[in-house]
Amino acid sequence: MNNPQRAVRPKERGRMPGISRRDLLYSGLALSASTLVARSAWGQTVALMASHPGLASAEALEAIAPREQLLFDFGWKFQFGHGTDPARDLGFGNSQGDFAKTGEFEFSKGKFDDSKWRKLNLPHDWAVELPFVWDDVQNSHGFKPVGRRYPETSVGWYRREFDIPASDKDRRIWVEFDGAFRSVLVFVNGCFIGRNDNGYAPFRFDLTDFLAVGAKNYIVVRVDASFGDGWFYEGAGIYRHVWLTKTDPLHLGRWESTVRSTVSGSGATLALGTIVENQGKNIESAKVSWKIVDASGKTVATAETPAQSIAVDGAATFSATAKLANPALWSVDEPNLYSAIVTVESGGKARDAERVSFGVRTAIFDAEKGFSLNGKSLKIQGTCNHQDHAGVGAALPDRLQWFRLAVLREMGGNAVRTSHNMPTPEWVEACDRMGMMMMCETRQMSSSAEGLSQLETMVKRYRNSPSIILWSIGNEEWVMQSEEAEQGAKVGATMVRKCHELDPTRVVSAAVNGDNEKGVSDAFDIIGFNYNLKGPEGYHKEHPKRPLYGSETSSAISTRGVYSTDALRNTVNAYDSVVPWGETAEDWWKFYGGNDYEAGGFAWTGFDYRGEPTPYGWPSINSQFGIVDMCGFPKDTFYYYKAWWGKDPVVHVFPHWNFEGREGEEIPVWVYSNMDEVELFVNGQSAGRQKVPHLGHVQWKVKYAPGAIEARGSKGGTVLLTDKRETTGPAVAIKLIADRTEINADGEDVAVIKVEALDKEGRAVPTANNHLGFKVSGAGAFIGVGNGDPNCQESDKEPKRSLFNGLAQVIVQATKEPGEIHIEAAKEGWDGPVLTPAKLTITTKKVELRPAVLDK
Ligand code: GAL
Repeated sequence: MNNPQRAVRPKERGRMPGISRRDLLYSGLALSASTLVARSAWGQTVALMASHPGLASAEALEAIAPREQLLFDFGWKFQFGHGTDPARDLGFGNSQGDFAKTGEFEFSKGKFDDSKWRKLNLPHDWAVELPFVWDDVQNSHGFKPVGRRYPETSVGWYRREFDIPASDKDRRIWVEFDGAFRSVLVFVNGCFIGRNDNGYAPFRFDLTDFLAVGAKNYIVVRVDASFGDGWFYEGAGIYRHVWLTKTDPLHLGRWESTVRSTVSGSGATLALGTIVENQGKNIESAKVSWKIVDASGKTVATAETPAQSIAVDGAATFSATAKLANPALWSVDEPNLYSAIVTVESGGKARDAERVSFGVRTAIFDAEKGFSLNGKSLKIQGTCNHQDHAGVGAALPDRLQWFRLAVLREMGGNAVRTSHNMPTPEWVEACDRMGMMMMCETRQMSSSAEGLSQLETMVKRYRNSPSIILWSIGNEEWVMQSEEAEQGAKVGATMVRKCHELDPTRVVSAAVNGDNEKGVSDAFDIIGFNYNLKGPEGYHKEHPKRPLYGSETSSAISTRGVYSTDALRNTVNAYDSVVPWGETAEDWWKFYGGNDYEAGGFAWTGFDYRGEPTPYGWPSINSQFGIVDMCGFPKDTFYYYKAWWGKDPVVHVFPHWNFEGREGEEIPVWVYSNMDEVELFVNGQSAGRQKVPHLGHVQWKVKYAPGAIEARGSKGGTVLLTDKRETTGPAVAIKLIADRTEINADGEDVAVIKVEALDKEGRAVPTANNHLGFKVSGAGAFIGVGNGDPNCQESDKEPKRSLFNGLAQVIVQATKEPGEIHIEAAKEGWDGPVLTPAKLTITTKKVELRPAVLDK
């Protein structure tokens, strides 16, 4: 964020299909053909997911009969409203008495004509569909015309007709939003139902009294993105899932079921708790039972409570304990999960039930020994990430969450920070199942009613997720830290108390930049530092009893595949460059990775994101902080982390070797490797051998001549791994590679397709910038495209794109009809060299669809 201080401070249901080596090459991210050892953590991750029955079947939080939770994503209508002109906002705001009488909102009644509205499915982000605007105010938000100065494109209306069957007569019915950006007003059948005023926390409304049972109903949602929550791209619209949930009037409280495990010896004790609410007409005598199920579906423990009487409109708390003998612990290598099936019974009948996914593990932060998971020391090898991706903005199909995590895992990452907001449930679920730890952060640092309600929602929603190892109550709140330190101390203490009350099992912290001596920091269980490596060092001396970690580090910048910094082109070279307040990958990791008392930390950032185009401005539209670009294509620093974070041998030599016109010039050649020694060969001649410094890299200066550079990495005197860059010829053909060639025909699943250009010898051309067009037909649709270029203002939503340094990405989504998706890529336009087009077929297979509100 542009801040003056900157200058002075430093569902898939069903199994994941098998993956071929070719697919691995894509997501395995540039295993060069010459490597002697080629392994892909993504491949291992996919294998892990496929072989883990628990992972394949359950949602993190799943409705179980008699409760129904229906996906409410398909078949919406959309139209822009207007931020200032009521006439262009469905007449809303025409009079002083808009909310005066109940039931008068005609646009949410049957006779309203929405036939001209656009049809779409959720999740939907309209900001990503808009063109870019040259407007410095929008700089950090990605130059999209959203905000109060753009009233025509800042308000969106969503409308949908839906049936409520007569059989729902005695049920409670809720509409639940996982998150929308930003101010939401909900209307049903003519009535105003409620509002929500932040962009990240989920919210819900009880619709029961407003619904017509056995008839058609109408819901209208006005979403207003005029105000922002953050200083980064935030999207606009209903960008997460919506659900219609139906329960018995006697039901479990929302997110009230908790499973807390304590490991002792070879067993674990589970403290089970929940709240049952009675919205029925009679007093109920209810009891609760728990069935604990392991990953193979076997019941491994049960518990039951005595019955309690619950008054009409009353609630009762239930608790019990259960024992697990030899539990399979959750860890980053083996993310073992269990489910607790929680059932409320009354009158001899199951009245409500849910499945809560949890893991058994101990996570400890220690002031001297850093972090440990299940008693074993483990460095947090984390990245901070915003939530948007190429092509789709903030509206990610669930599968993309897995894709993104797989990229970070491939790099050796074992943790993510959800900067700077509450994450979507699928990101947390993917972390639980893939074994990624998480620092889970709320958006608003405040103990106001709104701030506490966002915090409470986050903690309650995710407190059973084993991936979450700490809560963060905010990021870089300068005023709360120092200017108004007294106020900050009170706000911090209230928020920390709230977290402890709702979840006594986890530590609480925040990402603090600057002063950790006063203000909010007082209350924290562990102390986070953003940047400035001197900060934690000094603090540790002064406060040897307080555990420390790097809440945000690095802010290294680079443009993928670019090897010179050019302020005219807004590019940054790949040799670990950094902003003035940041640290190179090597510097921060030598510090946090090399000090026992440090728990590790979170680099800014894993993925590039829209907005914050530091160190430039327009026409750059996205950040350059990512270790991978907006598509997930690795920049060179990726291999620094892979070498020192991962378990596999790594040799990565860069730059590419296509420097036509620079013959005779000295070019820096770097190698990231975890071998003992690396020898560099230039056109077959040794340029020397170097020892690889621990947590460092090796480098040479080489006079450029076309040919090849090859790095040979050895351990104990034996060459184990080589990597090579060759001067390629011009691009003559296009190649398409999918992350998966079989996906689910469920209307949601996606294939992520890498597009590259090959020379006549079949080598990827690292400098190709050809403009390509795409055709998608059959059982799927094109939903977005990107190329990772921070300076590219081509549309994310049109099926054409220039390659950026040899690469682009196309995302296609399956329909619900099984069949084949055909993707064709060809040169776009008449000029430029001839390129052989490429074709790819993705098969979509029939799967059981998630229960959903019918889409007509
Ligand atoms: C941090 C901030 C991040 C991002 C980053 C860029 O201070 O927490 O959100 O702005 O700087 O370096």
